[in-house]
Amino acid sequence: MEKILVLDFGGQYNQLIARRVRECNVYSEVLSYKTDIDKIRQGGYSGIILTGGPASVFDDDAPRYDRELFELGLPVLGICYGAHLMAYMLGGSVSKAAIGEYGNVQLQIDDELSLLYKDIPSSTPCWMSHANSIAEAPAGFKVTSHTSDCKIASMENTSDKLYAVQYHPEVVHTPLGTEILRNFIYNVCGCKGDWIIASFVDEKVKELKQKVAGKKVLCALSGGVDSSVAALLMHKAAGDNLTCIFVDHGLLRKNEAEEVKAAFAGKFGINLVAVDASERFFSKLAGVTDPEQKRKIIGEEFIRVFEEEAKKIGTVDFLVQGTIYPDVIESGLGDAALIKSHHNVGGLPEHVDFKEIIEPLRDLFKDEVRKAGIELGLPHHMVARQPFPGPGLGVRIIGEVTPDKADILRDADAIFREELAKAGEDSKLSQYFAVLTNMRSVGVMGDERTYNYAVALRAVTTTDFMTADFGRIPYSVLEVVSSRIVNEVKSVNRVVYDITTKPPATIEFE
Ligand code: XMP
Repeated sequence: MEKILVLDFGGQYNQLIARRVRECNVYSEVLSYKTDIDKIRQGGYSGIILTGGPASVFDDDAPRYDRELFELGLPVLGICYGAHLMAYMLGGSVSKAAIGEYGNVQLQIDDELSLLYKDIPSSTPCWMSHANSIAEAPAGFKVTSHTSDCKIASMENTSDKLYAVQYHPEVVHTPLGTEILRNFIYNVCGCKGDWIIASFVDEKVKELKQKVAGKKVLCALSGGVDSSVAALLMHKAAGDNLTCIFVDHGLLRKNEAEEVKAAFAGKFGINLVAVDASERFFSKLAGVTDPEQKRKIIGEEFIRVFEEEAKKIGTVDFLVQGTIYPDVIESGLGDAALIKSHHNVGGLPEHVDFKEIIEPLRDLFKDEVRKAGIELGLPHHMVARQPFPGPGLGVRIIGEVTPDKADILRDADAIFREELAKAGEDSKLSQYFAVLTNMRSVGVMGDERTYNYAVALRAVTTTDFMTADFGRIPYSVLEVVSSRIVNEVKSVNRVVYDITTKPPATIEFE
């Protein structure tokens, strides 16, 4: 299989570069700049992309790489910091610009014969974000484009197959950026494009079949995209030797448990142990108001229930985990690692007898997991599911969690989701949900004075879930949602819309 290496210098777009490469149907891997050169030499790569990064090449502690990297005979494309590094290491010069260049500018292509710019118009918008820039190209390099403030926006040394761009081809603000990356991957690296999800699914099933033949496999199914796709892949390989355990902690969204059962036990015919453990969770949560403690209780109880059910099955050979590629990268390979470990509820069960963990999705990005899900016949609404925290509605009920409150929230949340879908607003948002605030206030319904809960609506747009903006939902839609919630959901007499960004707030409202 063809592979492109994305060598990570701590840039915030490292994963985006890797995803773009895969969108061009070529497999990519992200490795830290600390990776040993021998590993790169033996990695079977067709080319290397050096990412951007926050450092300045002349800082003493700047992340650098051995000059040998440029002498492997492999094509290299440096992006932003990666471009500076190439210039600096190969004898050119980099300087700090008087004014940095940020945002959209017009790229003027000076060399239309450049392989990088095949079929790209001579003037095209690109996204810049830099304080430093290449002042002088190293010997043997030719400048191939500029902008009004940047005289070397790209350069290349075709005989050594070294390319550098100051702008960011990976972001959407460079509209032809993917085409430019594709030109590098296909025209310079000579790739043909053999990374296709359908073949990944076929290959993976084949590989898993060999590995698990005749052995027992256990999978914790949450109904989320990752565990669902992992379970389906595994089912293709292990058939009836796979058992999935689905724990309903009573804090799922409306109809979610039924949908999971109907799809997995029904449509797919998977051995599914569905446990309604809601009472256990509610009794453990009684009287608890601290959000962290609620998370801890739910996480631990989840593991206990899972262990008890697993025990009934006996010793299994393999335990399936829905780990995906961003989890692998984030766990410390690169400097761009943005740690979200606090979101991992529960961890691994300690009292389940299994011999080995299998992570069938550990090479896939989320969008690829979704594509694999479609390939495997997972219903669209399950593939397109928005992120849902492991502790479920438990983190969206402020204060004590009770069965009544969970019912109120489920109903309000279902109305919000339904109306957003009806208005076609759902696809514009990254995540949206209702929250049951612990606040009660006075209202009037008919001739009656009420003293009921306020429901908060939360909707955000985000690309990475690290920062987020609140969704600009039209008032007309909010109006319908508000009116339906106060009319149809008991114990709610007020609806508010959360207009806080992250930071300072978080996406969840707990
Ligand atoms: P916050 O609230 O920290 O959330 O801005 C960022 C994203 O993470 C999701 N989230 C979780 N996901 N288990 C998960 O799998 C969790 O415990 C958890 N807590 C928050 C949240 O929904 C958002 O998408």
